[in-house]
Amino acid sequence: MTNIHNCDKSGYKAWLVYNQATWTKPNPNTVLFDSICADPVQKELEVAVEELKEALTAISGKIPELVSKPTSGNTVLIHLIPQRKTLKTADTGNGSESDGYISDSEACRLDNEGFIIKSCQTGGANCTVIAAKTGAGALYGVFALIRHILCGTFDKNAYIVQNPAIKLRMLNQWDNMDGSIERGYAGNSIFYRNGQITTDLRRVRDYARLMASVGLNSIVLNNVNVHGPETRLITKEQLPKVARLADIFREYGIKIYLSINYSSPIELGGLDTADPLDSRVRSWWSEKASEIYEYIPDFGGFLVKADSEFRPGPFTYGRNHAEGANMLAAALKPYGGLVIWRCFVYNCRQDWRDRVTDRANSAYDNFMPLDGSFDDNVILQIKNGPMDFQVREPVSPLIGGLKKSNYMLELQVTQEYTGQQRHLCYLAPMWKDVLDFDTYSRGKGSTVARLLSEPEDGLISGIAAVSNIGDDMNWTGHDLAQANLYCYGRLAWDPWLTSEEIAREWTMQTFGRDPVVTDTITGMLLDSYHIYESYTTPLGIGWMVNPGHHYGPNVDGYEYSAWGTYHRADHKGIGVDRSVATGTGFAGKYFPPNSSIYESIETCPEELLLFFHRVEYDYRLKSGVTLIQYIYDSHFEGAARAAELVDRWKSLEGRIGSDCFGRVLARLEEQAAHACEWRDVINSYFYRKSGIPDEKSRPIY
Ligand code: GCU
Repeated sequence: MTNIHNCDKSGYKAWLVYNQATWTKPNPNTVLFDSICADPVQKELEVAVEELKEALTAISGKIPELVSKPTSGNTVLIHLIPQRKTLKTADTGNGSESDGYISDSEACRLDNEGFIIKSCQTGGANCTVIAAKTGAGALYGVFALIRHILCGTFDKNAYIVQNPAIKLRMLNQWDNMDGSIERGYAGNSIFYRNGQITTDLRRVRDYARLMASVGLNSIVLNNVNVHGPETRLITKEQLPKVARLADIFREYGIKIYLSINYSSPIELGGLDTADPLDSRVRSWWSEKASEIYEYIPDFGGFLVKADSEFRPGPFTYGRNHAEGANMLAAALKPYGGLVIWRCFVYNCRQDWRDRVTDRANSAYDNFMPLDGSFDDNVILQIKNGPMDFQVREPVSPLIGGLKKSNYMLELQVTQEYTGQQRHLCYLAPMWKDVLDFDTYSRGKGSTVARLLSEPEDGLISGIAAVSNIGDDMNWTGHDLAQANLYCYGRLAWDPWLTSEEIAREWTMQTFGRDPVVTDTITGMLLDSYHIYESYTTPLGIGWMVNPGHHYGPNVDGYEYSAWGTYHRADHKGIGVDRSVATGTGFAGKYFPPNSSIYESIETCPEELLLFFHRVEYDYRLKSGVTLIQYIYDSHFEGAARAAELVDRWKSLEGRIGSDCFGRVLARLEEQAAHACEWRDVINSYFYRKSGIPDEKSRPIY
């Protein structure tokens, strides 16, 4: 009680809070390190050494000695594994050569970003060796070691080998150069201010640290909606400043990418067309690529939102997405750059009276026919669901549907539809539902996690997510929303971790190891997604939000709009029939047995019932309650459980820093009140539509 770990009042340090309170010797197999050994001429290891030194100094209260050879005491030895040819011959006893610390066969188990943590005795010192083939791998190893120390799980005899499951692990910043952030809920951009790239590079560096600490390796520095000023990021006037950002991220093993405007040849190049098959356009992009790589030799590539929500693209010229993407791919190819091409393509000018067109079909219908026609440095970026980051959607059938194209999953860390960082909504359970979903694309066991970690032969895959950070001191507005950034990185590294494991380790690193704190916060995080879903839009219906900003209930907010987002509620029932037999046919886009499971109202998972089916209010769910009663019950219970979150948090008073305690309490109280608003608006709407009263006679208006 007295030893409050979180002395980081502002929340700025996020989960990288190190202090002596962190160090409670949990078992005899733990040691405190007194020195760090790394070859001082290896520049690649500088950041790893710095990070480790900072952590150990704060945790032990003593600056660890930097030594070039381990001689005594407890040492962390950071070791860059030499190329095979330079391995010294030393017999490891298993027939394999060794460089003194790592055998040849061990080295073979590592990819470029992987690491090994193991113990050894050398030169009179007890060493914990962190070995990797690159500086990035060593840095990930260092952060893993720090995580184990902070969580009390470090064992001096541990033998850990890790490689990231997914190669490309990316964040998408939706930041604009005026400093605003599209769908940002934590202040303004840390990258831009008043039309200029920031000079506050310290904050950028601290963000790079947070990213690297959870294993992320790529970042797109501007919004997918590229307007006038951002179009100019690829010009000589901005590139030197972009290069400065790239320098910082590079130190942390992170490559930078830019979102581009497909009409750049017109807007910047003075051409009269951006037609991807026009030779002038092709040469303009080739020259542009060569210019970019002069400034940033390891530039990652372009992210492109084309022919989507009024953004320009190849359709204007009668070309398809493959022709559009391949033209850019050809320009980047000589430099190893990638084109990340978004599949978020649909008709956003739909007539709500049209019951045949279904936005859910759109990405699939646009991209499946093109499977196999994209160049090998194009990656298709697919939102997790077929609509748009709703609270609950089925997994996009393009994932696993595409077999001959590179693709990556797109998630949203920023809580656009999940409470905008005013409500607590820990997203790991939602993402686990996606990652664990069996697509049956390669037969049983073809989970999304497996498809992303083992792409088809010769293909590449990845994962991206829209970031939730801004320049609020605590990065994410809601302190507990930091857990979402954290868990995104951890799942990108290892999609088989459980939501609970990640919640626990995040909580311990952020708040220390008081078991009451860990259990309470972990429990709150784990419950929060279902609580949020139950008082907002249960059963997969979605979209009942205020148009534009998307915060708060408005059941018909999008019902008569052009965005293709309809629930079709009337006095008899609600939901969209997406079956093949009688509906829009979307259910048929999945591999069996998913297609038949979704096709039938009897077998459709209930959490997606109204996504796939139109259901009458008196239909009985598996539990025996009617649909209308379920809607009432869910909203009453959800709001009650949101109120309980306040009490659960209050039980921690005195156990965590008072600043953070107060900030989170204020948000939870707002959430509880707002959950009542959701409950009453939704319940009243359905009562008025259906005329069916609540069996329990609770207040409905
Ligand atoms: C959502 C979001 C937009 C965003 C778009 C996208 O529709 O509301 O702000 O631009 O997704 O992913 O491109």
